[in-house]
Amino acid sequence: MRTQKMERTKIAICMGSSCFSRGNRTNLGVIQEWMESNKANDRFELTGRLCCEQCSKGPIIEINDKAIKVESIEHLHQLLEKNYD
Ligand code: FES
Repeated sequence: MRTQKMERTKIAICMGSSCFSRGNRTNLGVIQEWMESNKANDRFELTGRLCCEQCSKGPIIEINDKAIKVESIEHLHQLLEKNYD
């Protein structure tokens, strides 16, 4: 019987100065708190990344290498829940 290794969802939060000041300073803490309260640390791989040159659209996070503009804290929660399955 084969065992399947569960793929972790990759979240890369842009830590460039524009995204950081546009909301990723807060979003980083929101993601960490959400992962902690949902015991999801083994389901997500959270990293920081440098500017991905989409500053005018920021704050940007990447989920499995897809860049997404975070509209609000509620939007961020929705993204996390959607990728928790
Ligand atoms: S600082 Fe985030 S895209 Fe440039």
